Amino acid sequence: MEALAEPNTVTNTAAKERPTVLSGIQSTGILHLGNYIGALSLWAANQSQYNNLFMVANLHTLTVPEAINPRELRQKSREVAALYIACGIDPDESIIFLQSDVPAHTYLAWILGCCTPVGWLERMTQYKVKAAAQETVGSGLLNYPALQAADILIYKANFVPVGDDQNQHLEITRDIAQRFNHLFGEYFPLPGTLNRTSGARVMGLDDPTQKMSKSIAAKKQGHAIALLDTPAVIKKAIMGAVTDAGGDILFESASVGVKNLLVLYEVLSGQSRPAIEANFAGKGYGALKRELVDLVVTTLEPIQAKFNELMSDDQQLDELLSTGATRASVIANQTVADVRKLVGV
Ligand code: AMP
Ligand code: TRP
Repeated sequence: MEALAEPNTVTNTAAKERPTVLSGIQSTGILHLGNYIGALSLWAANQSQYNNLFMVANLHTLTVPEAINPRELRQKSREVAALYIACGIDPDESIIFLQSDVPAHTYLAWILGCCTPVGWLERMTQYKVKAAAQETVGSGLLNYPALQAADILIYKANFVPVGDDQNQHLEITRDIAQRFNHLFGEYFPLPGTLNRTSGARVMGLDDPTQKMSKSIAAKKQGHAIALLDTPAVIKKAIMGAVTDAGGDILFESASVGVKNLLVLYEVLSGQSRPAIEANFAGKGYGALKRELVDLVVTTLEPIQAKFNELMSDDQQLDELLSTGATRASVIANQTVADVRKLVGV
């Protein structure tokens, strides 16, 4: 026992120095360039600065149970985890796991749900949109933000990197944490939101007034670029993207469609706005689109190769997820033990 004391202390001290980051993506539909730019690429880029936890939010997927095919959900959850790694999340640097493999999340979600006024939940934009599309609305869809708050607070995460459509869920997470702290004593730190300054909301290629989304992508070709799309499909979607009748390539004055293409180019190339404007001066939208096709194809090629490699070895992926769940559970179970004491159960 003595021999273990010292290394453990060292690990814990190192852990305390780095802020904790947690994020997740639901295991529905097809991951697209919006998910990559708004979330995944941001997670991968900042990994070394934080203690990271990245989960596949497969329990959130159950909030619309009518859409569930159990076999597909199981497969999709593994695919999303494989895409995390393929997009550059290093399983040694970051804890990668399935939400459902750490049951402490749902335990804490119950307690946090009890502290969450229904009025707050009913005001959530995502709830209103999703509930309007359902014939029957399950209480899980309403309580969705309490589970998301539990995902974050259970690791006392300091930052949550997400696209800007998730900002409202982060605000309610802070409100729930504050209400818990007020009722039971100061315990949860309030998590901050990490959005990209450029690219936090990638728009649909077919209709740049709409956010690029998994649900529209499932119904309409040319709306999104899926991370697993072939070069031919990528080319068709980008060359067909809605622009306008002008031709100048300037970030400030661009219409929404052109601005969307420019932001994609900016984030994927890592070039500055003046450099991009100088590169495309006088060349027109066709040139921008052609160069963007090449950039997207070369960005996605290594991701697709790594994804295929990971999906060809079930055992390796299962072991990786099992290790992730074990590592996450150690932290999550401790929080639940503390919370049980605080609330008196
Ligand atoms: P979802 O597809 O709703 O499960 O979202 C997973 C993550 O990707 C969240 O962090 C979202 O905010 C982010 N995201 C989804 N769509 C977009 C988009 N069009 N632009 C930027 N980020 C996005
Ligand atoms: N609600 C998020 C989405 O749809 C997914 C999610 C679940 C999440 N739990 C989370 C994101 C915790 C960040 C942190 O994209």
